[in-house]
Amino acid sequence: MSQDHESLENLLSEDRHFSPSPEFAAEANAQFDEYAHANMDRLAFWEEQAGTLQWERKWDTVLEWQAPYAKWFIGGKLNASVNALDRHVAEGRGDRVAFHFEGEPGDTQTITYAELLIQVKKAANALTEIGIVAGDRVAIYMPMIPEAAIAMLACARIGAPHSVVFGGFSADALLSRIQDADAKLVITADGGFRKGAAFALKPAVDEALKGAHNVEKVIVVQRTKQETAWTDRDIWWHELVGKQSTEHVAQNFDAEHPLFILYTSGTTAKPKGIFHTTGGYLTQVAYTHKMVFDIKPESDVYWCTADVGWITGHSYVVYGPLINGATQVMYEGTPDTPHKGRIFEIIEKYGVTILYTAPTLIRTWMKWGDEFPKAHNLQSLRLLGTVGEPINPEAWMWYREVIGGERCPIVDTWWQTETGAIMISPLPGITATKPGSAMRPIPGISAKVVDDNAVPVADGHGGYLILDQPWPSMLRGVWGEDERYKETYWSRFEGIYFAGDGAKLDDEGAIWLLGRVDDVMNVSGHRISTTEVESALVSHEAVAEAAVVGAADAMTGQGIVAFVILRSGIKHADGEELNTQLRNHVAKEIGAIAKPRQILIVNELPKTRSGKIMRRLLRDVAEDRVVGDATTLADPNVMKLIAAGLQSAKDED
Ligand code: PRX
Repeated sequence: MSQDHESLENLLSEDRHFSPSPEFAAEANAQFDEYAHANMDRLAFWEEQAGTLQWERKWDTVLEWQAPYAKWFIGGKLNASVNALDRHVAEGRGDRVAFHFEGEPGDTQTITYAELLIQVKKAANALTEIGIVAGDRVAIYMPMIPEAAIAMLACARIGAPHSVVFGGFSADALLSRIQDADAKLVITADGGFRKGAAFALKPAVDEALKGAHNVEKVIVVQRTKQETAWTDRDIWWHELVGKQSTEHVAQNFDAEHPLFILYTSGTTAKPKGIFHTTGGYLTQVAYTHKMVFDIKPESDVYWCTADVGWITGHSYVVYGPLINGATQVMYEGTPDTPHKGRIFEIIEKYGVTILYTAPTLIRTWMKWGDEFPKAHNLQSLRLLGTVGEPINPEAWMWYREVIGGERCPIVDTWWQTETGAIMISPLPGITATKPGSAMRPIPGISAKVVDDNAVPVADGHGGYLILDQPWPSMLRGVWGEDERYKETYWSRFEGIYFAGDGAKLDDEGAIWLLGRVDDVMNVSGHRISTTEVESALVSHEAVAEAAVVGAADAMTGQGIVAFVILRSGIKHADGEELNTQLRNHVAKEIGAIAKPRQILIVNELPKTRSGKIMRRLLRDVAEDRVVGDATTLADPNVMKLIAAGLQSAKDED
């Protein structure tokens, strides 16, 4: 955690507190006794929350816990899409808007709960017609359009676990996820709109499916109407779904029936298929969405800017908000198209009351300048949230003042793909927040900061963030890799979930997240493993060896810096061109988000005598620091050479 020392010092001096206004506090969904209520009997508390869902059959047992395997609400039966949709329509809320969709070119759709239900029923019938049955895996590779949510809910409706693959991932990344989950169907689109132009998605599916797989059909949503190559296995969404019946009676599934798989980066090159089930997941996403975002479904307009390709899009665009009957905004494009005020324009247009976004976007807005938010009326906002990476106090204060007009509580929410739902966050009507701190575990959750021996640290000290009690929305495993599940999450401390993050308790016991302590980078709130990028680099013919580190970056949190040794015979002289080639190669292998910010060609890498690369030293170089203790290096001169190479590269700039 050496890179965190500096930020640690800053944290120590943070003593600003911001309490909610008395008016906000009085009306808040979560009132003062919420923590005490949960503490009295944790299982009874979660049982009570599960009771707010609609079950066809109530559970017999709340929790069966044999570390590291948890089962929640055993014996209960329910359907996720019924909870998200049918229930609202049956109870008279069918006319409420579920999504205000805003396409990047400016096209819009208003979709009510009743309309969304009809679309999901038709899509469920379509899946059944082409032979998808409960248990089959469906890969979804889509832009941020309503059909992405409809496809997910249709899968859930028939019990087919979905595996959403972020539309920015490459064909290779898509193929490896299709293979790992052994998907039978892919749902995609011809393309989408981004940065003022149509991009294509379908060609990446075609490319991916040149590999080995068991995909029988590809359903294609027509979003852009661009020319699209076609094969026998392809079917247009509008032709297949369009002709289906609007009737569909949903079957109910066990609480522990798989709901979805979502791949995320770990410390090896192969992404992990994080696997979530139904009853516990829905319970915790619905509860946290209600309490942390203080949702008042009759009056709020809620906007989570995450893509459905990430866990935030699953839990806080699709499942949580729809179960709570919220009205949402969904936006397809980038925040600066056609101008840098697009997000603020949309907030004003729809009267958005709750905004949930990522620190990297907040810092980008800061850089663009206050004139963009100030050109719009943002008075409708009443609550702000952040997620994905630590938010620096400056960005937090700017968010509060410029976007929130100093009246909106900010919820800095810590959680992970693996946790499924928010775990640490202020409760907006209760907590006096501090700029940059996620504060405390939410009611019903036990999170601690511990030392090397799993002993909780005292206030004012730092250590590892762990979760020592099972929680309803926890991952149930890594798809097909049980050993990896145990090894990754449960082996550092016996029977205790280790999240991979470092954290610190301040003098009042508030939690400050300090970033990953493993080889996982966090770029713009997205997880990418150093090994994943390294193996992409060495798969290029010019590269003999590569070491990748995440270096502090003012805008993206971390930036990817790669140190590369070329194969003999490849000349440095082609530096510039080779650099571009390597960056593009990584984008092809993984996706544009994994493109290194900087590639440095070196002759040697700093290794210990046992051959382990000392990334700590490379990080020092990448972050422009004096190189730390290098006494365990096999060749003590290596760092001097690397630092000298870096300096001459800079001089050339
Ligand atoms: O390092 C933490 C960081 O993001 C990681 C989880 O990434 P992912 O599974 O992609 O999920 C992101 C969205 C939930 C964590 O291990 N992280 C997430 N939220 C925060 C955070 N770091 C600091 N503060 C947060 N609020």
